[in-house]
Amino acid sequence: MCSSEERARSMTMTRRDILMAAGVTGFAAALPRPLRAQAGGSVLQMPPLLDATSSGVFDLVARAGKTALMGRAPSATWGFNDQTFLGPTLRLAADGAVAASVTNQLTEPFALHWHGLLVPGHADGGPHLSIAPDRKWSVELDINQPPATIWYHSHTHLRTADHVQKGLAGVIQLTDGRDNARGLPTEYGTDDLTLVIQDRRFDGRGQMVYSPGMADEMMGFTGDVIVVNGQIGRTAVVPRGIVRLRLLNGSNARIYDLASRAGRLLHLVATDTGYLDRAATLKTLRLAPGERAEVLIDFTDGADDVLISGPNPNVGMMGGGMMGRAEKADFDILPIAVDDTRPARIDRLPESIGGTMPDLPTRNASRRNITLETGMNGMMWRGGNRHSINGQSFDMSRLNFSVKKGATEIWTIEGQMMAHPLHIHGVMFQVLSENGGPVSPRNRGWKDTVLVDGRVEIAVRFDHPATADKPFMFHCHILEHEDGGMMGQFSVV
Ligand code: C2O
Ligand code: CU
Ligand code: CU
Repeated sequence: MCSSEERARSMTMTRRDILMAAGVTGFAAALPRPLRAQAGGSVLQMPPLLDATSSGVFDLVARAGKTALMGRAPSATWGFNDQTFLGPTLRLAADGAVAASVTNQLTEPFALHWHGLLVPGHADGGPHLSIAPDRKWSVELDINQPPATIWYHSHTHLRTADHVQKGLAGVIQLTDGRDNARGLPTEYGTDDLTLVIQDRRFDGRGQMVYSPGMADEMMGFTGDVIVVNGQIGRTAVVPRGIVRLRLLNGSNARIYDLASRAGRLLHLVATDTGYLDRAATLKTLRLAPGERAEVLIDFTDGADDVLISGPNPNVGMMGGGMMGRAEKADFDILPIAVDDTRPARIDRLPESIGGTMPDLPTRNASRRNITLETGMNGMMWRGGNRHSINGQSFDMSRLNFSVKKGATEIWTIEGQMMAHPLHIHGVMFQVLSENGGPVSPRNRGWKDTVLVDGRVEIAVRFDHPATADKPFMFHCHILEHEDGGMMGQFSVV
């Protein structure tokens, strides 16, 4: 990480810098609500909120643009609607129908997947639902699932990694409108922050580069600059109270071990696809690509903090040498400044959150073994030695298996060589065991992606249909692994 980590750190601004940048004498005056009115300031901005809870309609338009990420030479990026990089946060009713459309104003096809949304295969946005340039995909999303923070991203055959790097991703909030009753912070961008955490590489001129080499294809592409909501070196400003962070690991391959530099506890209230019954208190939260987590942090003492991460556990696992990118030190994800003048809406942690913990009956479950295989000879890939699952690399024209609708299965998933986040479309599942032992607190709620570091057992009930020609995917969410063949597809009939 060294040099650019230092670079990123030196770009991190203190509260004093923010104040001076704003050219005013009082901190409170520098930070009127809403913060996003201060475009180009050094305060972290939320993605624009597109609230479709009452309209039941949203439209996304993908476009190419230029984004000054490093503040010097702009990078060629993609985004949705008014964003040149990433897309708006969609707020949708957790129970209701939505008329969605996705328009492609790019020069190449893409498919847009709703990761975590439980809809049939024909609405899921997998690689069989590619949208050609100048075409619009209109789809009815019949949503009926627990409230959750989920997301959307390109899921284009062989191109997902590249597209997500360019910016084809955004967050979805599924809400039932009852978070105030739950005692959870709900003010978007104030005490309820949406954080899309990504890592990128930049060239000497400050332009984002994505040119995976052989090691990146094997291990996954990691960057040395942290980008939060498409911004570098910004500071989040929060009230002196309980603050909710909706965290999305939208990185291609980096696994984060998130923590508070000041030693504050992270109160985990939701995993990928729903709330926990009560908060789980953690010092460190591991978040793998594709996973989401919602945490509450107590800022009532008024002290500033920094969200930090430990080094990526997936580097330096292969004995250095060619892979010699082992990381040692913690690094900053996001400085957080407390604005004392802003009244806290919520000043104590809710005793219970009220989510339903997974408890799937498995007496009649059938078993399936899934082995995630890292192709080791990158140079030979074009000749066939790609990543694979159970010996088979992804093939658009081959269904890996079919499941009976309503069936419950127990999957034993093993990962080779490194830790792999396995994601399954069209379901939410329960983690039963990790390496034969108990399930870690971060994996006890409903999940759609689970980090397989060794062996993981899950129980899955397949309630949503998918035909053989619009099947569901299951894959490693290290995007270079997914594009490299560590993916399969199944129907639910
Ligand atoms: Cu988030 Cu199939 O992916
Ligand atoms: Cu998905
Ligand atoms: Cu993988």
